[in-house]
Amino acid sequence: MKNIVVLVSGSGTNLQRIIDTIEAGEIQNAKVNLVVADRECFGLERAKNHKIESILIPRGKDFNSELAKVIPQNTDLIVLAGFLSILKSEFCENWNGKIINIHPALLPKFGGKGMWGMNVHNAVIEAKEVESGATVHFVTSGIDEGEAILQKSFEVTADDTPETLAQKVHQIEYEIFPIAINKVLGNK
Ligand code: GRF
Repeated sequence: MKNIVVLVSGSGTNLQRIIDTIEAGEIQNAKVNLVVADRECFGLERAKNHKIESILIPRGKDFNSELAKVIPQNTDLIVLAGFLSILKSEFCENWNGKIINIHPALLPKFGGKGMWGMNVHNAVIEAKEVESGATVHFVTSGIDEGEAILQKSFEVTADDTPETLAQKVHQIEYEIFPIAINKVLGNK
């Protein structure tokens, strides 16, 4: 059984998707052991609803050292699912190859500092991109720079707004995240 820790900052619909696909057997041989949030958020409620241990470590200067203390040594995968704090390079190196993130755009485009949430979708519309999508990638100390694991795109249409893009990207995320997690866990 592979042990997964999920890090969240927001509503946690991707966390929910991970929990649901594990329960449905779509992600095999895995368990979410712990959810860590860097602020009060609905992601914590989702963990509680599924009797998954959850910890709130307020964001700020001690976040990384506190996080390092609470991650069990037997963790096989750390999943960032809408997580907004920056992980220090020491943490990324210690867990090298075992931390993944989902990003709401087609990296390497629209990544890096400040590229999160609606900022991403606003930038995609402003740049008149013909496609957008989502990327699951390994986390390294360079923001959004780690190797891509899985990416899926869709066409941006003339009537799309940042809000419609956000919805469409979420649907793509729900599709590719479980597949990417299976891949990283060596499931298929
Ligand atoms: C997702 O769009 C993800 O790509 C980004 O933050 C959002 C999180 O959404 N990193 P949710 O909290 O899983 O609903």
